[in-house]
Amino acid sequence: MTQSSISPPKLETRGLTREVDGKIIVNHVSLNVYPAEVMAVVGPSGAGKSSLLRLLNRLDEPTAGTVHLDGQDYREIPPRELRRRMGMIMQMPYLFPGRVAENIRFGPRQRGEDVSDADIERLLARVGLADFSDREVDRLSGGEAQRVAIARALANNPEVLLLDEPTSALDEDAKAVVEKLLEEIIRSEGLTCVWVTHDRAQAARMGDRVAMMEDGKLLRVGAPQEVLNA
Ligand SMILES: Nc1ncnc2c1ncn2[C@@H]1O[C@H](COP(=O)(O)OP(=O)(O)O)[C@@H](O)[C@H]1O
Ligand SMILES: [Mg+2]
Repeated sequence: MTQSSISPPKLETRGLTREVDGKIIVNHVSLNVYPAEVMAVVGPSGAGKSSLLRLLNRLDEPTAGTVHLDGQDYREIPPRELRRRMGMIMQMPYLFPGRVAENIRFGPRQRGEDVSDADIERLLARVGLADFSDREVDRLSGGEAQRVAIARALANNPEVLLLDEPTSALDEDAKAVVEKLLEEIIRSEGLTCVWVTHDRAQAARMGDRVAMMEDGKLLRVGAPQEVLNA
């Protein structure tokens, strides 16, 4: 993304660090993610990928360093606003028991905003689940549940999506469907993404750039082929 590299970063981590019980699980990570860029993050299990992601929207607190969102230190942004602007998609979608529509309404309702039935329909159509609004979530397949989680994230109109192994728990068919859907949504909405995956082929398909982590540290950042073949 040569064009985006000349604009200021959407997301900038500066010496981002988290130490838990004397163990440094994220070690001085400084990384820029540019507007509408997809940064794939790869690395072995235990490398600190999920821990990094949780620092990015302040689900966990850095013990050193910080994150800038649009040039603003995120500690100046109320956490609820921060998490509205930065949606998160996890490996396992944590849906609340009940109907699909209620899950999608949850985030906006916390801010006192109602999502209309028409908006629910539009969001569900966006993820290929038209007519699913009254379904009970415990009757959904894994792929359908993940698509509801995506619709729920989109209901907040995020600027950034943080994705933690979003297809890892799915079977092969659902994995392909969800990956394709995410790609389509990310590109059409121009979302800035940090996409954690242990799947190097997925990193190569999805990442504009790839960041490789090991032992809490950022080892390399660059073009997918350079980083993945090094
Ligand atoms: N809340 C926590 N307390 C202590 N250690 C943790 C915590 N969360 C993660 N870790 C440790 O941090 C390291 C990185 O974990 P994680 O970020 O989950 O790696 P990855 O997502 O790359 O597999 C691991 O050694 C893990 O055991
Ligand atoms: Mg992880």
